Amino acid sequence: MALRCDLILRDVTVFDGTGASRFIADVGVTGDRITAVGDLGAATADREIIGTGRAVAPGFIDAHTHDDRAVLCGPACMTCKISQGVTTVVVGNCGVSLSPARFKAMPPPPLDLIGAEGWWRFGDFSEYADALKRQGSEVNTYALIGHQTMRVEAMDGDVLRPAKDGEIEHMHRRLKQALAEGASGFSTGLYYPPNMHATTEEVMAVAQALRPTGGLYSTHMRDEGDQICASIEETAKIGKRVGVQVHISHHKCSLPENWGRSTQTLPLIEAIAASQPMAFDMYPYPAGSTVLMPDRLRDDMRVIVTWSVPHPEMAGKDLKEIARGWNTDIKSAAKQLLPAGQITFQMDEEDVRRIMAHPLSMIGSDGIPHDAFPHPRLWGTFPRVLGYYARGLGLFSMETAVHKMTGRVAETYGMVDRGTIRVGGFADLVLFDPATVIDRATFETPTVMSEGIEEVWANGAVTFAKGAATGAKPGRLVTRNRA
Ligand code: ZN
Ligand code: CU
Repeated sequence: MALRCDLILRDVTVFDGTGASRFIADVGVTGDRITAVGDLGAATADREIIGTGRAVAPGFIDAHTHDDRAVLCGPACMTCKISQGVTTVVVGNCGVSLSPARFKAMPPPPLDLIGAEGWWRFGDFSEYADALKRQGSEVNTYALIGHQTMRVEAMDGDVLRPAKDGEIEHMHRRLKQALAEGASGFSTGLYYPPNMHATTEEVMAVAQALRPTGGLYSTHMRDEGDQICASIEETAKIGKRVGVQVHISHHKCSLPENWGRSTQTLPLIEAIAASQPMAFDMYPYPAGSTVLMPDRLRDDMRVIVTWSVPHPEMAGKDLKEIARGWNTDIKSAAKQLLPAGQITFQMDEEDVRRIMAHPLSMIGSDGIPHDAFPHPRLWGTFPRVLGYYARGLGLFSMETAVHKMTGRVAETYGMVDRGTIRVGGFADLVLFDPATVIDRATFETPTVMSEGIEEVWANGAVTFAKGAATGAKPGRLVTRNRA
């Protein structure tokens, strides 16, 4: 009897996510799985798409996001990602996760990036997982548990000091419980005030909770500037001592005096990775974005304001111009804007390219979904890597580009049956035009949808088609190494 599928993509160019050369084939989907790849001439399906001249890849996995709340607030919040072909997001990065914590008052920055008032209501990770299950989501969610979130809870907001033994014990217990309830790892944001007073010993003590489940340790390191190499060493030490896999978030060489130092950091990471599991993600832009921190501003880097509570009208404006208009310097202007967010042009494009091209890299947007005037990485990251860096500049092949946003990510994070196109894998797929796919979001107009992404499926259901979200919410919680 002839094979029957729900969907067949015919005569389509397959980028299978492993980095292997593209090939032309038919791809069949039944239910939530890929059920056939090859010549399906004799097979029939409820829906058939002639994919001639177009490409199919595993749905992109955003290796670094702050979508903890966005995954729960509907298409309005996730169109930025599904319109890029994203089908899975890693949440809880930089030490900031929406659970497990119940806060009555707004927690300190940078926690306010993801949780507006009323959102800090998931006292246990299981409540967050339940909400995902009940409401559904456009994308699959893979969750890390943030050190900053647990610290604010354990230390009752008094976070500008190292934690005491009882507080460390509290965080350890919370992390252990969250991992048992479906979380996949632990993240720190040692650069940020609520986390910077944590000693290496404190991080290791909390991270011990990862050992029974083999969870992963991910970090926005203490210093991405002058002390970048020491920070990489600290990360490696934590991984080695605890005996877990480590992941460096948004690897960069920050501040003009450190530009070019990726020629030091990449060999260092490579040497460490030879003896213990270490990987990193990065976003394809020479500017970063986070909460506005007046004390860390400098005159030699351009800053754009992304949001401001007292001055919402300043979102999208250059901080220097705001300061000039207010007849003051940038630090005092920044203080008047707080709480607020910033984009900072802190990197060198050559470092960005060297880091992106490195075999250990993977792509993570680090987009901040609730900003009034967000960094363009929120809407443009994946098409930009494909269209600008791979097709346009030839920094690497399109096969490599796809691998860095699919198979490599799934393998590193332990996402079972995702990230490659093969029979038996989940039908997370993106159909795109490899000749035209490109980002359109810029620093001037940051919320413009990318071009060339035609249709997107998560677990076999269409989430994005004809330039719009379908409203389908087939996304699931994905737990490390768990089928
Ligand atoms: Zn970060
Ligand atoms: Cu981040």
